[in-house]
Amino acid sequence: MQVPLLDLKREYQSLKAEIDGAVLDVMAATQYINGPQVKQFEEAAAKYCGCKYAIGVASGTDALLLSMRAVGVGPGTEVITTTFSFFATAGTIHNLGAKAVFVDIDEETFNVDVRQIEKRITPQTKAIMPVHLFGQCADMDAIMDIAARHNLIVIEDAAQAISAKYKGKMSGSIGHLGCFSFYPTKNLGAPGDGGMIVTNSDELNERLRRLKAHGANVKYFHEEVGYNSRLDTLHAAILLTKLPHLDGWSAARRNNAAYYNQRFAGSPLRMPRAADYAYHIYNQYTLRVDNRDGLRDHLKQQGIGFEIYYPAPLHLQKCFQYLGYRESDLPIAERSAKQVISIPIYPQLREDEREFVADTVLKFVS
Ligand SMILES: Cc1ncc(COP(=O)(O)O)c(C=O)c1O
Repeated sequence: MQVPLLDLKREYQSLKAEIDGAVLDVMAATQYINGPQVKQFEEAAAKYCGCKYAIGVASGTDALLLSMRAVGVGPGTEVITTTFSFFATAGTIHNLGAKAVFVDIDEETFNVDVRQIEKRITPQTKAIMPVHLFGQCADMDAIMDIAARHNLIVIEDAAQAISAKYKGKMSGSIGHLGCFSFYPTKNLGAPGDGGMIVTNSDELNERLRRLKAHGANVKYFHEEVGYNSRLDTLHAAILLTKLPHLDGWSAARRNNAAYYNQRFAGSPLRMPRAADYAYHIYNQYTLRVDNRDGLRDHLKQQGIGFEIYYPAPLHLQKCFQYLGYRESDLPIAERSAKQVISIPIYPQLREDEREFVADTVLKFVS
């Protein structure tokens, strides 16, 4: 049996008629840029996330970039974030001319260790950017409390966490701004790049809409230099079709996670732990195992898909050498990078497949 890490064909087949219909509608109307589906999706997504505004942009990376730009992150400012994330979290800070200040993670949740944030605050700190890694929210109450005491902005990198909740609140809706990615492998994926920012602030909504349209409120009259960052009509139409299915898909991922947790209980594997406050939606199901590379080779031989998210923490990336971090500065993330492995968890995974995955993993560790 071959079990891929993710098989998007199954999702497409399950919604083929609806998706094909949405695509054909866009093609027939030919309004490929800023078509009505963009606004419809923004309204539906804002409602889903429990926020006043949702702003469609070209990618999750752009969502982070525009959000930080909108709150004044730039040269001479610092942004505190986790060192254990996808590269975009830190690359966007650098690209705005600001300094990324990395914090180690909590051993249990893979998310930023909130106890280590406050000591990294300086007079230059502008924002805190927690990442809700693998589909589980960071400890947002603690982060919002620190931010309020130091007058800082909080930008949630919720790229992997649409439909996750923190104490009942939707991911992305707790900070000043929340950023999402619709990269195809995300829980809500577009057929290409796409992203979104959510906020309750009238001011930030207005600034972001200007920034994503080359800095113009009125076409061809530019108050500032912005970007070209749009969610395509075609992508919005497909996302609109998929959104009503998102909660069901998240429930199916949680069900698969519960199955693995039960199968792996008592083994030397360390399972991903959902914090008490979290509604974890398992964009990834990530195990920790000492002989990770051995398990990786074993899964490869047995035809099971996996991925290493992430093989190196951000503070040790070559491109960030100039920031002066050294090995063992942020030890939990460094150790995690050597132990983590993510296995198939997607909603359409069949019972016989997840059983085969669990059997194969257990055969290796025992
Ligand atoms: C945590 C995190 N932040 C940011 C991004 C960037 O999103 P995108 O690939 O849509 O630019 C991703 C996903 O790729 C991500 O996983």
